Amino acid sequence: MKINNRLDSIGVYHFKTIDGIKEKRRKEGKKIIDLSIGDPDLAVEPSILNALIQGFDEVGFNKYPPYDGINFLKNQVIDYYKNRFGVHLELEEVAILIGSKEGISNVIPAVCDIKDAVIVPEPGYPVYSSASKLWGCIPYTVPIKESNNYLVDFTEIPKEVCTKAKLMFINYPNNPTGAKGSGEFFSEVVKFCEESNIVLCNDAAYSEIISPEESPLSILQFDKNKHSVEFGTLSKLYNMTGFRIGYAVGNKEVISALVKVKSNLDSGQFIPIQKAAVTALNLDKTYGDEIRKIYFKRRTVAEKVLKEKNIQFFTTESTFYIWCKTPKGYTTHEFCSEILDRYGLVVTPGSCFGTLGYDYFRIALTCSWQIIEEGLASLPRYDN
Ligand SMILES: Cc1ncc(COP(=O)(O)O)c(C=O)c1O
Repeated sequence: MKINNRLDSIGVYHFKTIDGIKEKRRKEGKKIIDLSIGDPDLAVEPSILNALIQGFDEVGFNKYPPYDGINFLKNQVIDYYKNRFGVHLELEEVAILIGSKEGISNVIPAVCDIKDAVIVPEPGYPVYSSASKLWGCIPYTVPIKESNNYLVDFTEIPKEVCTKAKLMFINYPNNPTGAKGSGEFFSEVVKFCEESNIVLCNDAAYSEIISPEESPLSILQFDKNKHSVEFGTLSKLYNMTGFRIGYAVGNKEVISALVKVKSNLDSGQFIPIQKAAVTALNLDKTYGDEIRKIYFKRRTVAEKVLKEKNIQFFTTESTFYIWCKTPKGYTTHEFCSEILDRYGLVVTPGSCFGTLGYDYFRIALTCSWQIIEEGLASLPRYDN
C-alpha cells in the first residue's frame, strides 16, 4: 500500500500509545492512577448541558452549520474578548473551530507554502511540529529553557530562519512547563514577528487556568495592528474536551484563509455544541474562580509530596501541569515506565514534547487532590 512518506517523519501520537498500555493494565486488574493527559476530570456545568439539549429544539439544528461558526457563538467570543481583555473584535476576525487542535493544524496551510519554515517552541505541544511536517512544512524548533523561565529567546533564532519562516507558534500559559508570558514578553514577540513578517499564533488553551488572584492575558492586548492570531478552547476551563469546540481570533486575512482551508476539509461543528459553548463563555467569573481554586489546591498538594520525594519541578501557578526533572540516573522513558510498572502511576515522558524534554516528565493535575496525593506518595524518595 502506498502511504504518505511524510508520515514516517512523525511518531504515533503518544497518548494513543499510552491508552493501549493503560487498557492492558486495567484488563490485568491492576490499579492505575493516571496523571498523564490534560483531560479534566471535573463535571460539565449543568447549564452547558442544558444548552446542548435545548439546541435540539431549534429549527435547522441538524443542518450544516456556517463554515466559520454560528454568529451567536462568534458574538459571544467577541464579548468575552471585550469584557476580559478590553480587545475589540469584528465578526470576520473570529472563526469557530472543531477544537483548537484542528485550527492549530489548519492554520499551517492557511499561511504556509510547502517547504516554508514554521517556528515552534521546544519542549512544546507536539502538534505544532507534527502538523507542520504533515502539511509539508519544516518545523524550526526554538529551545525554551528554564534559565529563561521557559520563554522564547528570539536571539536564538537565526536570521535565515526568520527569512524562511512564515509562521510561529507560542503557547502561554505553556504546556508542558506551566510557564506564563508577561505583557512585556508578549509585546516583544509581537514586535519580533511583525518586523520579520511572520504570522504569530498564540495558543491560549490554558489562558484561564492561572492563579486565582491573577487575570488572564491575550496576545491581542499587545498587538495593536492585529498582526497575530490567538487560539482558544472550551476544552480545559469548561471540561469540554469531548465536545470539540474552540475558536481562532485576530488577523482578518489569516482568519479568512483558515476558514477557506476549513471549508475544503470540514463542515463546522454541530450547532447544539456551538450553543452549549455560548452558555459556557457566558458563565459568571465565579465559575472560573472555582475551577482555579480546585487546580490551585491540587498543585499545592502535589508540590508538597514532590518535595518530600526529592523530585525537582518548575514552580508556577499556571496551567494544570507540573514539569518535573527526572530523578538522577534515569532517562525519562525509564522513569515513566518504572513508575507505571511498580506503582501504577501514569505520567507523560518529557520526550513527548521534543528532545529538550528528555530529562523531564509532566504531571497533569486532572484527578482529585486525594488521588494525586495517593499516587505521588507511592513513589520512593529519590537521590539527586
Ligand atoms: C497547548 C495545547 N493546545 C491545544 C490543545 C488542544 O485542545 P483542544 O483541541 O481540545 O481545543 C491542547 C490539548 O491538550 C494543548 O495542550
